[in-house]
Amino acid sequence: MNAEPRGNMPKLENFWMPFTANRQFKAAPRMLAAASGMYYTDVDGNQVLDGTSGLWCCNAGHGRREISEAVGRQLEELDYAPTFQMGHPLAFETAEVLSGVVDKALNRVFFTNSGSESADTALKIALAYHRAKGDAGRTRVIGRERGYHGVGFGGISVGGLVANRKTFTAALLPGSDHIVHTHDPARNAFSKGQPRHGAEYADDLERLIALHGAETIACVIVEPVAGSTGVLVPPENYLQRLRAICDKHGILLIFDEVITGFGRLGAPFAVEKFGVMPDIMTTAKGLTNGVIPMGAVFVRQAVHDAMMQGDEAVIEFFHGYTYSGSPAACAAALATQEIYRREKLFERAADLEPYWEEKLHALKGTKHVVDIRNCGIVGGIELESRPGAPGKRAYEIFVKAFRAGLLIRVTGDTIALSPPLIVEKDQIDRMMGMLEEFIPSVD
Ligand SMILES: Cc1ncc(COP(=O)(O)O)c(C=O)c1O
Repeated sequence: MNAEPRGNMPKLENFWMPFTANRQFKAAPRMLAAASGMYYTDVDGNQVLDGTSGLWCCNAGHGRREISEAVGRQLEELDYAPTFQMGHPLAFETAEVLSGVVDKALNRVFFTNSGSESADTALKIALAYHRAKGDAGRTRVIGRERGYHGVGFGGISVGGLVANRKTFTAALLPGSDHIVHTHDPARNAFSKGQPRHGAEYADDLERLIALHGAETIACVIVEPVAGSTGVLVPPENYLQRLRAICDKHGILLIFDEVITGFGRLGAPFAVEKFGVMPDIMTTAKGLTNGVIPMGAVFVRQAVHDAMMQGDEAVIEFFHGYTYSGSPAACAAALATQEIYRREKLFERAADLEPYWEEKLHALKGTKHVVDIRNCGIVGGIELESRPGAPGKRAYEIFVKAFRAGLLIRVTGDTIALSPPLIVEKDQIDRMMGMLEEFIPSVD
């Protein structure tokens, strides 16, 4: 392994990188140095077209002055303020503004610093809600196979990505369980938008209810469009059916909108895109355009109000983070939301969706491609795995694309695309053109 500095590069050995093959990376690093609009610049000065909004974060594109200036001003005025038994106006203003972005039913907002913290917070709210209602036996949390809800112990308990869980199985939440995933390539391969088949996968929740008893189940958490597992779009009527089963049995429904939120689907949230209202919705990433770590959990007022009982001098929910609603994060969130609103980026994404879909699906027929999936400005291109070497083919394409100036994300053998919502049609053409060249170029 060569971890020596290159030119003016720092030593690489001290940073233990997340979700990275550290030794492989450090032997041949890919380093970004700057970003503006749709492009990164790498440390060698090459332009890299951002096909992934960083990590599904930078929906308004990079280098947005309005955000960095708002953060800078805020840091000079009030650098940090606690929100435990204290407050500062910007946190309240941010919650008020955000509750105007989402459907007004989800109008209570709890701040976190990441998607993982949002997922764990949502699970804790669900448990605390049932307990406050005198239903303390509802302690089970249900997720879905292939789900991703970050890396906290709550999130990996309901998450369904095997690699993220298997090392820690002895330490997962007792009573957590999973409904089946919705991936059904035999019936749905190359569906445009929502697949036609598979609403009945929601009925798997009835199986778990029969197995455990509804009175033991607090909540079900799903990503409306599963991202990290390789872009799984919900079949038509699937989310509606899940909602109906939850209603029937008094189970809270949580949507993890960490990647689907803030315009990614051509609507403010999946809530509006699919017309299904959860009880709790988790967000992060696009909330601040990825500029400052921040998450927000949106909660139905009735769920919130159920916990606002008893002695008013007693803390209602023993949960929170030192940086919940920190001033700089709030400044970034407000400036980001203002860009989304002023530039009508959610509407722009909706307008662009048919073009995106057409160009993405034009890759059908390319060697190795076995499925293509899309929703909003999200694309998944699934490749046939190389025998005995799952993930290797997509990884090689990822490296090739980066060296040629395109950032994509791969998970297993699926290429996931989610460019900033400011992407132009000619940039989509370039992205797909490069993929058309690189996908068949590997074995
Ligand atoms: C649906 C979903 N939930 C949670 C997370 C975790 O977010 P974070 O990495 O900010 O903790 C992610 C990250 O990709 C995600 O896609």
